[in-house]
Amino acid sequence: YNPEGTGCGAAMRSMCIGLKYPKPDQLLSLVAVAVETGRMTHPHPTGFLGAVASALFASYAVQRRPMTTWGLGLINEACPVARTIIQETIKSVFNFTFYLCERGLSNGVGPLLWPPSYGPAERDEAYKSFSLSGWAGRSGHDAPMIALDALLGAGSDWEELMNRAAFHGGDSDSTAVIAACCWGLLYGTNGVPEGNYSNLEYRDRLERCAEQLYALSH
Ligand SMILES: *[C@@H]1O[C@H](CO)[C@@H](O)[C@H](O)[C@H]1NC(C)=O
Ligand SMILES: *[C@@H]1O[C@H](CO)[C@@H](O)[C@H](O)[C@H]1NC(C)=O
Repeated sequence: YNPEGTGCGAAMRSMCIGLKYPKPDQLLSLVAVAVETGRMTHPHPTGFLGAVASALFASYAVQRRPMTTWGLGLINEACPVARTIIQETIKSVFNFTFYLCERGLSNGVGPLLWPPSYGPAERDEAYKSFSLSGWAGRSGHDAPMIALDALLGAGSDWEELMNRAAFHGGDSDSTAVIAACCWGLLYGTNGVPEGNYSNLEYRDRLERCAEQLYALSH
């Protein structure tokens, strides 16, 4: 994402999309292609929705649609389609919905559903199944997903948290750091063997920074 990706470059080059999909019943394809090609270079909505607008206007010109209605057509017909397309992409690439279903958490309440057997081997398989290409925890969606899975499974048990979040065959430091930060905020160092943190490098600096950061919010 680039907050400065608001330029008109995507809009300038997208009239051809309107030529490819000129008919009213091709609106879905027109918007989908405009959004996808637009945000390759212009990730800000102002940038890629510009691509939708110029593609759409080109199709309206082909349709001989009265020009006084073009603007409303953009807002009322094309923008809702763009919104749906973006939400669908978010669902498929960020796939938390799937995980919540698996764990019985779609209602936000539970009860939690666990596989009948969920030891290290089964967890490795499950973590891999969350991942994009088999490297568990390397992506933006599966690292926090595995951390949450570990937090849910471990409760206040530090060793169990480490077993689930830190000792697995994937990107284990990434999942462990996310899980351990949340765990520490919930439970502090309760039940954590002193050896796990007594000689932590830069411990004073880390604790001071955390306290100052937290103080800023009050
Ligand atoms: C979410 O991930 C699961 C497991 O990898 C997969 O079966 C499912 O199709 C995905 N859902 C979407 C919307 O991509
Ligand atoms: C750190 O914690 C783990 C899990 O409780 C424990 O097995 C290990 O011995 C501890 N390490 C040290 C150096 O204390």
